[in-house]
Amino acid sequence: MNAIFTINGKIIETKRLILRPFAESDLSDFYEYASVEGVGERAGWQHHESIEKSREILSRFISEDKTFAICLKESDKVIGSLGVERYGLEDKLTEFDGYRGREIGFVLAKDYWGRGLMPEAVEAVMDYLFSELDYDFLLCGYYNFNSQSKRVQEKCGFKPYRALTMETRMGTKENGTLNLCINPKKNIKFNFSHPETLIYE
Ligand SMILES: CC(C)(COP(=O)(O)OP(=O)(O)OC[C@H]1O[C@@H](n2cnc3c(N)ncnc32)[C@H](O)[C@@H]1OP(=O)(O)O)[C@@H](O)C(=O)NCCC(=O)NCCS
Repeated sequence: MNAIFTINGKIIETKRLILRPFAESDLSDFYEYASVEGVGERAGWQHHESIEKSREILSRFISEDKTFAICLKESDKVIGSLGVERYGLEDKLTEFDGYRGREIGFVLAKDYWGRGLMPEAVEAVMDYLFSELDYDFLLCGYYNFNSQSKRVQEKCGFKPYRALTMETRMGTKENGTLNLCINPKKNIKFNFSHPETLIYE
């Protein structure tokens, strides 16, 4: 089942990054990376064509309080986001009944790709969710064309779980992979449902 989650003022620090709630003053940093074509599209949303679009999404980030701003430690510049989202198909994925988890999703500004920054952010959030909030599992997905996201998830300990056709926010459908990571501190053996889409070994 989906665990209840809000950031609730939590700040996570890594070697190079600070993860914190978004603020209205982050609008120009957010628009700067969200307006670049080919960034959001890899995560299933269209790049922002106006700052008004960024303002609308930013106000949702602030009110829903489940998406961390990823900031450079030295300057507090926002260079990405990491959401702790509700996973879908909760009624069908009965293996998670009675267990607590969420799905994470992330985006990084293009200028900062290839420096291992997202694995650093993802690992820190996973550690918080598993060690402090005691989650049982986390899900994370990627469209199969997105080898960079696949690689981040592999490096962070996720394993292929389901082969699914996933809808994008642009109204298209893409073949994708949903990955699973079970809290390494727990000895959980899930009794998996729906073998037709299952790829967990
Ligand atoms: C996916 C993403 C978050 C990766 O973040 P990152 O901090 O660059 O991750 P890494 O530095 O660990 O790089 C991951 C892999 O991408 C590849 N890569 C790195 N820089 C690259 C670049 N500029 N162009 C293409 N591939 C690149 C490398 O193969 C690397 O794997 P390696 O460490 O084994 O060599 C980032 O590319 C991104 O924001 N993409 C757009 C949004 C997105 O895809 N979100 C995920 C949705 S599921």
